[in-house]
Amino acid sequence: MKIPEKIVFATNNAHKLREVREILGNRCEILSLEQIGCHDDIPETAPTLEGNALIKARWIKDKYGFDCFADDTGLEVDALGGEPGVKSARYAASQGAGVSDHDSKANMRLLLKKLEGIENRKARFRTAIALIIGDDVTIFEGKVEGEITTVPGGTDGFGYDPVFRPLGRELTFAEMTPAEKNSLSHRGRALEAMIEHFC
Ligand code: IMP
Repeated sequence: MKIPEKIVFATNNAHKLREVREILGNRCEILSLEQIGCHDDIPETAPTLEGNALIKARWIKDKYGFDCFADDTGLEVDALGGEPGVKSARYAASQGAGVSDHDSKANMRLLLKKLEGIENRKARFRTAIALIIGDDVTIFEGKVEGEITTVPGGTDGFGYDPVFRPLGRELTFAEMTPAEKNSLSHRGRALEAMIEHFC
């Protein structure tokens, strides 16, 4: 399948947009939701990452008519039985901590508190991407294994980046250059799979 000249990435998260534009380079033009005039609060109610990615992509295709892709990411921590997983964005809020969704600092604080005194810090980021081109729907996945640090490190990146150190690395995602993070990240790997699909 040929890569479209223009495609919508169903997000308004500036960090994600930058990462995706850097990874896809000049292969195609990436439009954000803002650029197509979409300010909808798209529900993310599925019990899986794949399901939520599909809801977002389907919403844009059906309502706005654009070919598009959407991602959903979860941080799975082994000692917490895979939590926060699909609830990663609203982790602190879902525990009644009196904070809004997407409060990264509160999410990291809660995660570090739950892991206090626990030796097994193994975790992984998993991303599902749903791509809709015409009538074709394809799901791609990417993951990266690593561990949760005991204190946040670094100021770059977003979300849980300061507390996630990929396996075999000394730096957290938030301490790496964007290029370094993209070369091994969950989103980078899912996007590589999507790029291969087009070639
Ligand atoms: P969503 O995919 O935007 O729903 O993200 C779910 C949660 O994971 C949010 O709290 C994000 O901030 C966080 N998240 C998504 N991608 C990344 C990443 O690449 N690094 C760190 N946190 C991320």
